[in-house]
Amino acid sequence: MVDAHCRLCRHIQPFTSTAATCAACGGRQWLCHRELDQLTIAHIDCDAFYANVEKREHPEWRDKPLIVGGRQRGVVTTACYIARMFGVRSAMPMFEARARCPHALIVKPRMALYRDVGLEIRKAMRRLSPKIQPVSIDEAYVDLSDTQRLHGKPAFEVLMDFQDWVAEHLGLSLSIGLAHNKLLAKIASDLEKPRGFSVLGPSDGQAFLADKPVRILWGIGPSLASSLSRRGILKVGDLARFSEAELSRLFGSMGPRLAAYAQAEDPRKVRSREPTKSISAETTFYTDLSALEDLYPNLKRLAGRVASRAQRSSQAGWVVTIKLKTEDFQTFTRRQKLPQPTFDESTLLAMGETLLKREMGRGPFRLLGLGLSDFSDHGVEKTAAEASVLLKAPEPAWPPADQS
Ligand code: TTP
Ligand code: MG
Repeated sequence: MVDAHCRLCRHIQPFTSTAATCAACGGRQWLCHRELDQLTIAHIDCDAFYANVEKREHPEWRDKPLIVGGRQRGVVTTACYIARMFGVRSAMPMFEARARCPHALIVKPRMALYRDVGLEIRKAMRRLSPKIQPVSIDEAYVDLSDTQRLHGKPAFEVLMDFQDWVAEHLGLSLSIGLAHNKLLAKIASDLEKPRGFSVLGPSDGQAFLADKPVRILWGIGPSLASSLSRRGILKVGDLARFSEAELSRLFGSMGPRLAAYAQAEDPRKVRSREPTKSISAETTFYTDLSALEDLYPNLKRLAGRVASRAQRSSQAGWVVTIKLKTEDFQTFTRRQKLPQPTFDESTLLAMGETLLKREMGRGPFRLLGLGLSDFSDHGVEKTAAEASVLLKAPEPAWPPADQS
């Protein structure tokens, strides 16, 4: 008989059905898996992150449909789960989102705030386990293999506590996937959003994946998916018909990884991220350009790309670099330190323009690049004033005192 753990009150009773009610609190949110005790790799992802940060700052919006977006190209950045019930999705044009949910509140993104909140959650995760690998502003993998020793509890219990703690102290909801590897943990965290907690184990991983489209697997983008489909591989189960040698012959270095995925295995470890050294973008022109008014729109596009990547990965840099290639293929760079670290598009653009103006005499140019580097560990100072009331409040203890 397998134990069912109540996620609301922690009562444990023998599993009968997912619809069973908890004998202690009457709830119906269970965590139940025969391998639960042995699973230690988690993927944690905040629910409707930007929208829920905005709702936290404006409690009166809690029960209203909320869309964050509109600043770049007039698209939805994210929508809360109420707005999603009306069909609103990330990257949808704003006019379509408005048509689907005319009564939604629409707010512009406040990146500095989301970044600060993302860092706060990450800080709490580090107290959960030192082995964390941030993936983006609102998600990370956590290796909890030392949890029993550190916290005196199995990983799943510590994670349930963490989910409750973040809701209570940071006012945000997150979803958790627990598995024995990163592949299944990431897939699991998406299964029951929002406020989900899903478990996939070695014994059910392969059967779970078998009828899923190959795009569910990490690292399979549209082009690999279409070459897989040309060979009749549409579902993960189809991959299992091929040997590793065959997959390597057909798909090169992806072969061994695909063979492992077909068995629901994933050799990737949770690695604390190597610090990124720089974020950059560049463009080669159809015809060489020498006038500032022709170069400027290109620089603006590059600043937009670099800023959005820096914002998504929560990194503010001290140094802006431009790269130029002249018509006779001479490449050179110019760099300048900023008074404070930034990931702000207009600051990047202004510094890029200053650097570019100094080099105008060396054109025409066939390539222009823009980069941001020397990332700060401490965030963007000027955004501190914008940080939420919660972040300024004394930091509540994590883990709770009785577990430390
Ligand atoms: P996601 O985790 O992909 O989305 P989410 O947190 O809004 O919703 P979910 O509950 O499904 O996890 O992305 C995190 C944030 O990144 C999101 O709140 C807004 C931003 N984002 C973009 O800027 N552009 C995009 O296309 C997506 C998908 C997200
Ligand atoms: Mg998310």
